[in-house]
Amino acid sequence: MADKEVVETSEAQIAVHWKEEECVYPSKEFINQANVKDETVYKRFDLDNFPECFTEYADLLHWDKSWDTILDTSDAPCWKWFVGGRINACYNCVDRHLEKNKNKTAIHFVPEPENERVQHITYQELYVQVNELAALLQDFAGLKAGDTVTLHLPMTAELPITMLACARLGVIHSEVFGGFSGRACADRIEDAKSRVLITIDGYYRSGKLIDHKQNADIAVDLAKKDGQKVDKVLIWQRYPGKNSTPTPMIEGRDYIINDLLKDYRGKKVDPVPMPAEDPLFLMYTSGTTGKPKGCQHSTGGYLAYVAGTSKYIQDIHPEDVYWCMADIGWITGHSYIVYGPLSLCASSVIYEGVPTYPDAGRAWRIAEELDVNIFHTAPTVIRALRKIDPDLPKKYNHHFKHMTTVGEPIEPQVWRWYHEVVGKGEAVIVDTWWQTETGGFLCGTVPAIKPMKPGSTGPGVPGIYPIIYDEEGNEIKAGEGRAGNICIKNPWPGAFQTIWRDRDRYVSTYYARYCKDKNSKDWRDWPYLTGDAAMEAEDGYYRILGRIDDVINVSGHRLGTKEIESAALTVMEVAEAAVVPVADDIKGVVPDLYISLKPGYEPTDELAMKISAGICDTIGKIARPRKVWLVSDMPKTRSGKIMRRVLGAISNKKDVGDVSTLANPEIVDEIQKKVSG
Ligand code: WTA
Repeated sequence: MADKEVVETSEAQIAVHWKEEECVYPSKEFINQANVKDETVYKRFDLDNFPECFTEYADLLHWDKSWDTILDTSDAPCWKWFVGGRINACYNCVDRHLEKNKNKTAIHFVPEPENERVQHITYQELYVQVNELAALLQDFAGLKAGDTVTLHLPMTAELPITMLACARLGVIHSEVFGGFSGRACADRIEDAKSRVLITIDGYYRSGKLIDHKQNADIAVDLAKKDGQKVDKVLIWQRYPGKNSTPTPMIEGRDYIINDLLKDYRGKKVDPVPMPAEDPLFLMYTSGTTGKPKGCQHSTGGYLAYVAGTSKYIQDIHPEDVYWCMADIGWITGHSYIVYGPLSLCASSVIYEGVPTYPDAGRAWRIAEELDVNIFHTAPTVIRALRKIDPDLPKKYNHHFKHMTTVGEPIEPQVWRWYHEVVGKGEAVIVDTWWQTETGGFLCGTVPAIKPMKPGSTGPGVPGIYPIIYDEEGNEIKAGEGRAGNICIKNPWPGAFQTIWRDRDRYVSTYYARYCKDKNSKDWRDWPYLTGDAAMEAEDGYYRILGRIDDVINVSGHRLGTKEIESAALTVMEVAEAAVVPVADDIKGVVPDLYISLKPGYEPTDELAMKISAGICDTIGKIARPRKVWLVSDMPKTRSGKIMRRVLGAISNKKDVGDVSTLANPEIVDEIQKKVSG
C-alpha cells in the first residue's frame, strides 16, 4: 500500500494453492462462429501499437465527432482517452439499432415469481421508454448534463431504462446496489452530491415482495444529516398503477414515476453529444479505509472498452441471447448486462430474483425458455448450485456456446463441473479477472484462440499488459513459481478516471506504490496497482490469489474489513472490533468478526445477534459476519495494536505462529478454544 499500511491477514494469505491444470480446447463449432478467430488480434494490440490499437474498439461505436487525441497523458496518472471526441452512450445502446433491429428484443425481463410473464422489451420499446423518462428527468426533475443522480434500484428493467435515460442527457448516474441499506445509500448520496434519488416501491427476492421504499426514507434523512439535501425522490412502481409498499409517500418530495410519465407520452429528447472524457457514471466500491470510493467512469473510453471486450472476449453477436446473472448494482452488471451487450445490439436477460428460487432448476428453465446461448455468473453461484444437486442441469435442454466466470478464483473441480454439467461440454469458459476500477476485463482468454486452463484466468486480454512486482518493486517473471502484486503496465480506455472528488486518494491508492517518477507524463512510469496477489505460469496465464489489502471478497462482492468494523462499533456495547477473512466452500471468503465488549457487559447470544443485525442495517445483508466471536480481549502487540494475523489464523484453523511477543499471549489459547468449540 502507498502508505505502507501493513495488513496482517489478507485473502491472498489464506488462498488455496491448487496445482497447475491441463488446458482444455474450444470446439470447432465454437471457433467457426467466433467473432475473433484471427490470431493477429494480439499483434494488433501489441504495446508497439499502443495506444492506436484501441481505436479498433472505438470504431465499434457511433461518434458524433471523432477524437483529436487518442491518449492524452498530460495530467498523469489521470489518463484521458479519445479527447476531442463527442459521443452519447444511450444513442449507441438504443437509437442506432432502430434502423435494422427495432423489433428485436433488447431486454428480456424475468420476474422472480414464476407465474409472472417475462417481458420482452424491443429496441423500439426501449427507445420510447428511455425518451419519455429522459424528458421527465429533464423537465420535471430539472436534471441536465453534468449533474449527478443516485439510483437505488434492484434488478428490474427500470434500472437499465433509468441508466440509459440519464446517459441520454449526460446526467451522471450513481447506482447503489439494491441490497444495500438506506444508510449505505445515504453515504453514497452525500458523496455524489445528488439532489435526486430514483428508487422503486418494491421488488421480489426469495419469494418475498420487499418494501424498498422504506430504504429511500432512511437514505434521504441520513443524507440530510450528513449535509446533502435530496429534493425529489422519484419512485417506480413494481406493478405500474398499483402501490407495492406500505410506507407512506411524503408530500412534495416523493413522486410516482409511473404517474408522472402520463404527461410525457411520446416525448422525445435528443441525445446530448457528450465530450468523450465526461463521466458516464459513478460506481462505489470498498477501499482500505471505511469510506467507499466513487469510481468515476468516462463516456467514450468506457463504452469503447466494454463494447470491444463484449465482442471479442464474450463473443457476443447481435443474434445472441445473453444472460449475465450478476446484479446491475455492481460493475459487472453495468459493463456486461447493460452497456456492453446493448451497444452490440444483443438481447440481454435481466432476472429479478435469486438463482435458486423456487428451486435450483430455475436458471436452466430460464435459459431454455429464452434460448440463452451465452451465460455469465460467479463461482459462488456455481458452487451453490453444484452443492444442491450436481446432476440437475442434465435434466434441462439448455445449450450454451459460451460461459463466463467472474469475481473470485474458481477451483478447478468447480470449473470442471461448470464445463461438463452446466455447459454440457459444448461451451467455452472464459475466467475473467477485473475490477470496479478497471471498467472491463483485464485478464481472460480470447476464446477461439487461447485454450482454457481451469483455475487460471488467462493472459492479459488484447491491449492489457500485466506485470507482477515483489515488495521491493522487482519484477517476478513467468514460471518463477512466486506470487507478488499484480499491476498493469499500461493505461486502457475502460479504466476509471479518478475517485470522485478525491484525486489524491486515486493517485496514492493505485499509482504511488510502483511509480517510477512522480513528475513523469509518460504512462510507462505509472504501473496500476490492482491490489491482488497473483502468480504467472510459464505460459503467461495468471492465477489470482486474492486481495493483498484489507478488502474481502464475499461471494464476489467487495467489502472493506474497516467498513464492517466501523459498523460493529456503532453498537453501544462494543469496545473493539476486528474482521478477518475466512475461507468458505460456497462463498469463497466470508468475514469473521471478533468483538471485545465495554466493561460491565455480558457476552450473550442476543448481543452477538444484535451486533450482526447492526451490521446488516448499516451496510446490508451481504456484510453479515459468519460468526460474531465475543472475546474477553483481543490479541495485542505491546503497543496495543490488534493482531489480526493471529485471529485470521485461528478462524482459518491454521498455525498461529509465534505469539510469545504479544502483550497478552494467554488470550490466544482462550480464543482458540472458543472458536474450535
Ligand atoms: C476479485 C468485480 C479471481 C479480485 C469484476 C478483484 C477475481 C476483485 C476475479 C474485484 C477472477 C475478480 N478470479 N479473482 N476471475 N474477478 N476477482 O471490484 O480480487 O467487485 O480485485 O469487480 O474481485 O471485485 P469488484
